[in-house]
Amino acid sequence: MTVNFNHSISRLGTQAEKYELRQAVFGRDDVLPMWVADMDLPTPPFIIEAIKQRLNHPILGYTQMPDSMFQAIVDWQAQHGYRVQAEHILLTHNVANGLFLAVQAFTRPGDTVLIQPPIYPPFYQAAELNDRKLALAPLVLVQDQYQIDFVEFERQIIDQSVRLFLLCNPHNPAGRVWSGSELRQMAEICIKHNVIMVSDEIHSDLVYEGFQHTPMAAISDDIAQHTITLSSPGKTFNLAGLQIGYAIIANPQHRKTYAQTLARAKIADLNLFGMVALQAAYSSEGRVWKRKLMVHFQTNIQYLQLFLAEHFPQVRIIRPQASYLVWLDFRGLFSDHQALKHWLINHAKLGLNDGESYGEAGSGFMRMNIAAPKSTLEQAFRQLVQAKSAL
Ligand SMILES: Cc1ncc(COP(=O)(O)O)c(C=O)c1O
Repeated sequence: MTVNFNHSISRLGTQAEKYELRQAVFGRDDVLPMWVADMDLPTPPFIIEAIKQRLNHPILGYTQMPDSMFQAIVDWQAQHGYRVQAEHILLTHNVANGLFLAVQAFTRPGDTVLIQPPIYPPFYQAAELNDRKLALAPLVLVQDQYQIDFVEFERQIIDQSVRLFLLCNPHNPAGRVWSGSELRQMAEICIKHNVIMVSDEIHSDLVYEGFQHTPMAAISDDIAQHTITLSSPGKTFNLAGLQIGYAIIANPQHRKTYAQTLARAKIADLNLFGMVALQAAYSSEGRVWKRKLMVHFQTNIQYLQLFLAEHFPQVRIIRPQASYLVWLDFRGLFSDHQALKHWLINHAKLGLNDGESYGEAGSGFMRMNIAAPKSTLEQAFRQLVQAKSAL
């Protein structure tokens, strides 16, 4: 399988959010978009081929989810040392959907949900839009990497009577791959205080050399009994438009509660193409593709690092241990977040994710998506250099 990740593909005319929403989000439609977390790289050809094969049949009616799809999830998760039983898998309409449903299933209005800012905005929304309160246990930046303050973590749980913990494993935007001991420590505190854990593991396949993803529920049977795992091939294989998600729940009572919540929303299956794509993705070809993709990301991150060191040494890169989202600390260049935003949008003409949307802790930060051909990075770097005169 030959793959050229540096081939540039125009997404104009495909309703791609990353492009279509530029005017609405940045106030101008000419920014180079490096924000929404999907890739400007092709969805693997073997997945496209599987969808085409299905389209050879002219009827796209109601479709039973096959056992082979559940088995594909079981086999895929086994790579992470996670032994999943097919009967423990429930399907959702994407991972964010699974997160919101977990809040609805395991808490009531007025209950408190714990998160670790800076964090992917839907973690806030899952609580806020469901009339739940938020407890915040911010991560702590130590020498350009985020750490957990376990004392604060437990204090929040006790002081705010937390019912549910939404964990991002690996973390977006911090890029941290949590170690087994960090996960165990969080789990022990949660179990001690009767807090159910939801572990969003959508970035778990995209882990860089030197790091290893640990599924929270794979640490011990006891921890699995207190954990809802959420995942999808959506990020790894650029399938976000197909809306795929699943939950793995070992605890029978929790599984029943979650299944009831799904039933109340009449959510049962993946859509037909999601089902086909999942099976094609979670395959031996998918494993090979993923390895090649990681090499491309690694090259792009190194390129970004070299560029910043040479041209913007005041900007710190929080080097991701997983995924293609790079959290950048601009505080050495700008003391004011609004001025940073203005400069990036109107002078550098770059569309990055606004750090403040990840919480207060994101002030002075921006998230850059490097899942693109090298030419996109080159363009971004040229624009940044040109914008230096406006500093
Ligand atoms: C941590 C995390 N969870 C969930 C999602 C969204 O996934 P989905 O499109 O399956 O809802 C993202 C997308 O960026 C993410 O980073």
